[in-house]
Amino acid sequence: MSASASLRGPLLAIESSCDETAAAILDVDGAVLADVVSTQVAAHAPFGGVVPEIASREHLARITTVVRRALADAGIAPTALCAVAATYGPGLIGALLVGLQAAKGMARALGVPLVGVHHVEGHLMAAAVDAAAPAPPFIGLVASGGHTALYRFEGVGRATLIGQTRDDAAGEAFDKTAKLLGLGYPGGAAVDRLAAQGDPSRFPMPFALRDHTTEDFSFSGLKTAVRVLVERERAAGRHFEDQALADLCASVRAAIVDALLTKALRVCRAKQVYRLVIGGGVAANSLLRSEAVRRGADSEVEVYLPPPARCTDNAVMIAAAARAWLAQGRYSSLSLMANADARVEDAAAALLAPTVPADP
Ligand code: KG4
Ligand code: ZN
Repeated sequence: MSASASLRGPLLAIESSCDETAAAILDVDGAVLADVVSTQVAAHAPFGGVVPEIASREHLARITTVVRRALADAGIAPTALCAVAATYGPGLIGALLVGLQAAKGMARALGVPLVGVHHVEGHLMAAAVDAAAPAPPFIGLVASGGHTALYRFEGVGRATLIGQTRDDAAGEAFDKTAKLLGLGYPGGAAVDRLAAQGDPSRFPMPFALRDHTTEDFSFSGLKTAVRVLVERERAAGRHFEDQALADLCASVRAAIVDALLTKALRVCRAKQVYRLVIGGGVAANSLLRSEAVRRGADSEVEVYLPPPARCTDNAVMIAAAARAWLAQGRYSSLSLMANADARVEDAAAALLAPTVPADP
């Protein structure tokens, strides 16, 4: 199979690592031809979080429709595709398997390359779809329900971990706060909405690992702080509502945003890389978006956040990463395995070794 043939037509990518079944198609010049995201939120909401077995079954039920929809939106036949990409990890193993196996089946049937993409590299590459986004190298902050980490990113296969959460992810801190306050799942967007009317200074929140000796994060203390406040109110026969609820949401949101931006901008200065790209579902947060731009300007750091729909899980970002691999002539073996714990440092191992060009 010739990898050089691989960027000669549209590319299909599938994302199925958690609770969104997504497919996207990028044209040969990188233009987005289709961007389909089918969310499973309603299936998991009654359980207060993602149930892995339900996620696998929902992906199975949706994948064919989602891929067909993407092809219809792009107005192309499957035979026009030059490659098929999918997230191979990290994520829920049963969920990953559905998307990866679907991609393998299509790649094999069409006789085109398969490209296995690391989910975090996808979040870091979400910016690449926009011509206005900074090109690597940049510092990448990925903050989602499953990840919170800072990287030096020089391109696919060249992400260096600088710091990461030691316990809960930032999105998990939002979701656990929402759960304690009875706001449903996933709660990040609900906390964000309520916080807009609140006073962020009303309830002081901890900023763990603030010191300069580590670029790691810790968010589990926030959940404890919220739980203590909720229990104190309950003991007094009250519960958080109206202004107090908005103030608590605003206090938690401000604490998470401050921790993320303080560390990210400090890393930009320390590494002398004055470009910061923020991705992952938490990058959809309205305070994070406005503060990142304001504080970035104060620190003379160029900050880029993809549009909110490209921050939460989607397949356009997987397609963007796959394009970058294909541009290097790299693609994966059809025996690529899904890996629930895939490390970003090992992302290149999902691709076959580069081929040495033959002598003319
Ligand atoms: O990237 P993503 O869709 O999935 C993972 O890879 O985890 O991120 C989902 C996370 C959830 O924790 C959700 O609550 C959070 O992103 N999130 C938000 C907002 N929108 C989504 N958190 C804060 N504010 C938001 N507006
Ligand atoms: Zn994600």
